[in-house]
Amino acid sequence: MEYATQLHSDGGRTTETMSPASAPEPLQLAPLQLVLSALRLVNFRSYSDAVLKVPACPVVLVGPNGSGKTNCLEAISLLSPGRGLRTARLGDIQRKAPHDTSVREGEMMPALWVVAATVARAEGAWDVATGLIPSANDSNARRTIHLNGAPAIAADVLELAPVLWLTPAQDRLFMEGGSERRRFLDRLVFGLDPSHARRATRYERAMRERLKLLRDGGGDAVWLEALEETMAESGAAITRARLDTIDILNTELNARARASSFPCAQLGLDDVLGDAGANPNTLLARLTASRRHDAESGRTGIGPHLSDLVVRHTGKRAHARDCSTGEQKALLVSIVLANAWLQKHRNNGAAPLILLDEIAAHLDETRRAALFEEILSLSAQAWMTGTDESLFASLGGRAAFVSVDDGQFVH
Ligand SMILES: Nc1ncnc2c1ncn2[C@@H]1O[C@H](COP(=O)(O)OP(=O)(O)OP(=O)(O)O)[C@@H](O)[C@H]1O
Ligand SMILES: [Mg+2]
Repeated sequence: MEYATQLHSDGGRTTETMSPASAPEPLQLAPLQLVLSALRLVNFRSYSDAVLKVPACPVVLVGPNGSGKTNCLEAISLLSPGRGLRTARLGDIQRKAPHDTSVREGEMMPALWVVAATVARAEGAWDVATGLIPSANDSNARRTIHLNGAPAIAADVLELAPVLWLTPAQDRLFMEGGSERRRFLDRLVFGLDPSHARRATRYERAMRERLKLLRDGGGDAVWLEALEETMAESGAAITRARLDTIDILNTELNARARASSFPCAQLGLDDVLGDAGANPNTLLARLTASRRHDAESGRTGIGPHLSDLVVRHTGKRAHARDCSTGEQKALLVSIVLANAWLQKHRNNGAAPLILLDEIAAHLDETRRAALFEEILSLSAQAWMTGTDESLFASLGGRAAFVSVDDGQFVH
């Protein structure tokens, strides 16, 4: 396949740099059980073609504003389902090349954007790649995923290399609308229940088709019923998975409360149907009853796409929304760490990849040191960014420091 060839050969260069056989030697997997050992970014935002190889330890990307640190984390986040940590439109990711004289200013490069990585686990190594395939009609451009050169789906890669992240944009997570909180919750679910991503895709597809049918006047009644049954079944399973994740996370957060430097959070799901949202019959009945309303409003008025995540700061007995910015950040760190520990226990000791954009700047010195120690005891490959290397000093020789400069990795 042309696309696969493009990812895996470039005059021999890609094969040489990205194949598992040429991963950094020696690959010290103990105690880290899941590592991104090599990364290549082609036509990806500020990166024209950059390759980074790292050892099996946490990574700190250091560079001035605009050097490409967040772009690099975004690239890694795109190895898992969804639109990555910026929730970007896939077309916006493609590199615009204002300094390239062969293309006019602001014009898109003709090639695709590609993110290729080597995922190393105790059981072996895999080549993972994702990119955008161009199409004659721009709006039809498709993102594809390849595993060892063969077409794959995001859920396959998710099982192989689960990813969690925290970004400065999430500093307003508790202040804004529910969609980002829902996405945050679903990412917590993904790591504990990889089939959650498939359910969400199924639900959304059926929801779109049902709405189109209703807008067009109802159409085929049998087809409409079938779509609602799919929505009820996958929608209830989505709610069940969210409730289960919240349940075990709350238990884990409670258990960690005394020993952790981060505040104890308690999570809840806000859904108009309450726990009954996990019952497919209830959801089906409500969907059937809301046909006329949905046709008129042009929106699906009931279902898990409207639920919200509620977080409370246990110690302060306060809603996260009413906590300070720093406290909110600490709550998010607390939740992500608890989830990482749960994933590690369920995944043969492999902690997920954790992307922490500008995390050091937001935490006081004590919490910063506590976070680094916890990442090390998790044996997680955390990818952290910062403009100031000194904030990571307490990591000492226990992390790989990489300078990023103008879309290049400087080793
Ligand atoms: N599609 C694109 N094509 C070319 N350049 C892009 C594209 N999208 C973003 N950029 C550029 O990438 C550069 C690096 O962005 P990035 O957010 O990674 O910087 P950063 O190192 O995280 O900076 P900061 O410290 O300010 O967070 C920015 O100058 C931005 O304009
Ligand atoms: Mg940044």
